[in-house]
Amino acid sequence: MNQKVLISRKIFKEAVALARQYFEVDDNPNDMPLSRDELAQRLQDKEGAIILLTDRIDEAALSRCPKLKIVCNVAVGFNNIDVEACTRHKVMVTNTPGVLDDTTADFAWTLLLATARRVVEADRCLRSGLWTGWKLMEFLGYDVHHKVLGICGLGRIGQRVARRAKGFDMKIVYTDAARAAPFVEEELGCRFVDKGTLLEGADFVTLHVPLLPETTHYISTAELAGMKRTAILINASRGPVVDEKALVQALREGRIAGAGLDVYEREPEVEAGLLEMKNVVLAPHIASASHETRLRMATMAAENLVAGLMGKRPLNLVNPEVFG
Ligand code: DGY
Repeated sequence: MNQKVLISRKIFKEAVALARQYFEVDDNPNDMPLSRDELAQRLQDKEGAIILLTDRIDEAALSRCPKLKIVCNVAVGFNNIDVEACTRHKVMVTNTPGVLDDTTADFAWTLLLATARRVVEADRCLRSGLWTGWKLMEFLGYDVHHKVLGICGLGRIGQRVARRAKGFDMKIVYTDAARAAPFVEEELGCRFVDKGTLLEGADFVTLHVPLLPETTHYISTAELAGMKRTAILINASRGPVVDEKALVQALREGRIAGAGLDVYEREPEVEAGLLEMKNVVLAPHIASASHETRLRMATMAAENLVAGLMGKRPLNLVNPEVFG
């Protein structure tokens, strides 16, 4: 029990208990992100850490933590971690892939349906006492069934989104850095097209790409200008994938019909223009937030931590070159 670990934010007690079976645990039950300085300070004497995507692990932090061997992110995305710097410092990095795919796909669909059918706007109207009774012409939205769904990024989550679209009798097109295997296209009933063609033809564009330098502002002024005026944009990937200022401009000018967003460029800040718009549904980065999935993500991170510090290869090792 002589290895020390940090759990940087509030996580499920099951995951904390697992870590406590093996290590001396320093935790942060307040659930407020530690400042960059406090995080580095509390990591100084630790061999391992379970962190959330609000914690930044970079060269500056790593250079202050000589004992650190493993950092376990409770998220599938790991853009909060400088993996190259971790590899240089021989620090293993793990994430939580797979367990949140269905839950995240469900939520992309939640945003899509809520935006298309104006659910949040209608709910607000009713609660504020403004509803005066049934009207033929009130809260007209857009049909989803039999429309064209454009999926950007046909990875695990994108594929789950496609599977659900079949139930809505949609035509599905996708674009990605590489084309999927023919059996995947066949099973999902989707067709590979280039990004421009997808944006031009889709009624709903849903983003499922990882955040990389080449996907930063993947959707900006030119892309929004290439979309249908009746199109709806859904983002449950990472905020910086969409240029928020360009999106506000496009929505203001009626260049697209609406947007459903779960993620933002500078979380928890949200581009002010978006907050005023009725045709935008805004969620606070909750696509994976079901009881079952978040518990599984936290225990998976704890399992990765235990494996890594007990000399075994963690199941979800992002930088395998560090192991051994
Ligand atoms: C992730 O896992 O990367 C999500 O953004 C949070 O579930």
